[in-house]
Amino acid sequence: MSLMEAAADVRERAYAPYSNFKVGAALLSVEGNVHQGCNVENVAYPEGTCAEAGAIAAMIAAGDSRIAEVAVIADSPSPVPPCGGCRQKLAEFADGDVKVTLGTTGGTTLTMTVAELLPGAFDAGHMAKT
Ligand code: THU
Repeated sequence: MSLMEAAADVRERAYAPYSNFKVGAALLSVEGNVHQGCNVENVAYPEGTCAEAGAIAAMIAAGDSRIAEVAVIADSPSPVPPCGGCRQKLAEFADGDVKVTLGTTGGTTLTMTVAELLPGAFDAGHMAKT
């Protein structure tokens, strides 16, 4: 199963009764394992979580450390872009050159890097005093 197929698989289990917009994400860890996540909404809307956040939580819970590749899919007219918060979350665990493939259920894809998705990222270096 490809990474995008793994994202499409978990997307089916998304809990999105408020937006009706199901999203699936799959990460390949540097350890060689695939971790999946879907969006999980809440009646208190800000408490909902994104697919990417779920996949990252699954990776960390499984004991893996870093992201090697990402796939995200939704039933959107164009390849679904991660939200701003998820870009920051991905950058925590992925080098800038890691590929993120954005997909639609119709089969269109767009591959970007983490650095392209989050230029000028805030990182630990910005907290270091010289
Ligand atoms: N969503 C994700 O899960 N990932 C994204 O990258 C974009 C948005 C979810 C959050 C919410 O449940 C729904 O899509 C509509 O915003």
